[in-house]
Amino acid sequence: MKSSFTEMDKFEAGRLFKNGQTVGFSGFTPAGAAKVVPEGIAAFAKEEHAAGRPFKIGVITGASTGDSLDGNLARAEAVAWRTPYQTNTDLRNAVNAGKIKYYDLHLSEVAQEIRYGFLGHVDWAVIEACKVTADGEITPTTSVGVSPTLCRVADKIIIELNSAHPEDLQGCHDIIELENPPHRREIRVYSVSDRGGVPTIKVDPKKIVAIVKNHAPDQAREFADADETTDKIGNNVAEFLAAELKAGRLPPEFLPLQSGVGNIANALMGALGKDKNIPPFTMYSEVLQDSVANLIFEGRVTFASATSLTVTPAILGRIYENLPEFRKHFVLRPQEISNNPGLVRRLGVISINTAIEADIFGNINSTHIMGGKMMNGIGGSGDFTRNAYLSIFTCPSTTKNSDISTIVPLVSHLDHTEHSVKVLITEQGVADLRGKDPVDRAKAIINNCAHPDYRAELLAYVEANKKCGHIPLNLRDAFKMHVRFMDTKTMKQK
Ligand code: COA
Repeated sequence: MKSSFTEMDKFEAGRLFKNGQTVGFSGFTPAGAAKVVPEGIAAFAKEEHAAGRPFKIGVITGASTGDSLDGNLARAEAVAWRTPYQTNTDLRNAVNAGKIKYYDLHLSEVAQEIRYGFLGHVDWAVIEACKVTADGEITPTTSVGVSPTLCRVADKIIIELNSAHPEDLQGCHDIIELENPPHRREIRVYSVSDRGGVPTIKVDPKKIVAIVKNHAPDQAREFADADETTDKIGNNVAEFLAAELKAGRLPPEFLPLQSGVGNIANALMGALGKDKNIPPFTMYSEVLQDSVANLIFEGRVTFASATSLTVTPAILGRIYENLPEFRKHFVLRPQEISNNPGLVRRLGVISINTAIEADIFGNINSTHIMGGKMMNGIGGSGDFTRNAYLSIFTCPSTTKNSDISTIVPLVSHLDHTEHSVKVLITEQGVADLRGKDPVDRAKAIINNCAHPDYRAELLAYVEANKKCGHIPLNLRDAFKMHVRFMDTKTMKQK
């Protein structure tokens, strides 16, 4: 990089921000998230608050970030509003306490909502990069997210130049930014490995007001080890897909997979990779987690398209050591492309996401505990589920020491409707919902997926309400299990 840009430390950079401004940060998961400028902003916010002056900003990112961004800014009470996704405990607590306004948004839509002006004016883009040239070519690090759009619309840009990532990452990204309707054209991606864009984000270099050099590793969380339950869920998914292949409902070359985020998704991909009834496969997903990286090394995954490389430090080290070979097998795209509903349908993606709870008809709650408390957000699950060739949801049949059944008469919050959900899988088994009416869906879900401790009550509910209409639903009793949990700390009948 030519030294034509002003270099600053994170605290000097933090002082550039003003109360009420909107800031777009790079990052999709902790991967590629801005890390040091948020610390500077948090420090400045504390100073301003101590001096009795208000200081809060609006925060837009690709998805969740690391603690250095969401955690620091939330603890400094520096966030007025936040979109589109988060996983940070302090930020989540502030959202659930009504201290931060949170707009939970489908991740494929974030860039266009920014462009359409739905999120207001964007003052700043703070972007982590491994390289920036004097003429304004930015190479992102381990994620792309909404950085191309943020860089284009923001008045000013700060680059976090992070030497923890090699400049050789250049070429691993495929940057496309869509036009707004009525000028939008087709996306030239016809298979998971196609590239229709350019390797870098190009900006007017005059907009880059500061460079903050650092060496801060991604703050990827370690995954819980696979356990008996996640292994069983993984095996059930693998057996179901192998049977679909055998029955000719999936093409012999298989179809690209999307897998969700978190412990269950990570364990599930490991199990799928082990099942040799499934041929080597590709991924068209949003996040490339540890298990998928390992499957690329093993040759079980031949190509993965994602918007972020969210792997633990040991796996990232192995990827960087083997980058010349590994880069042949993955590409990082903006999230409006990695999660694009049209491409998901074009490519015939099989989606596999994790539910917080499912009801006996196949409606899914991905986001809210007991209806009201935000967990993380909808993420990309809606982008994929609604448009998939085959949409699958997984979850353990119970949680919290079996005191909560994840299979309930009616979901306490609705993210994915019964119309979009084709298959539900728990460690108990598989409910194939295709072609079934509500009563048959309920029987399949209760008998195959619910935990035996809760089956009798759920079946009795269906029997008692069969004459209610098309759907056996009774508003008086639909939340009885939830209410019992609130009253007695268990959904089990005494
Ligand atoms: N009631 C109360 N708590 C519940 C619950 C329920 N029905 N279901 C899950 N939980 C709790 C778990 O007990 C666990 O709590 P803990 O952290 O105190 O142990 C926590 O939620 C996470 O559950 P876990 O079983 O560890 O699953 P996970 O890490 O795989 O995460 C989701 C599951 C649903 C929270 C996560 O996948 C998510 O945020 N999904 C929405 C976004 C999405 O699907 N993105 C992918 C799109 S590409």
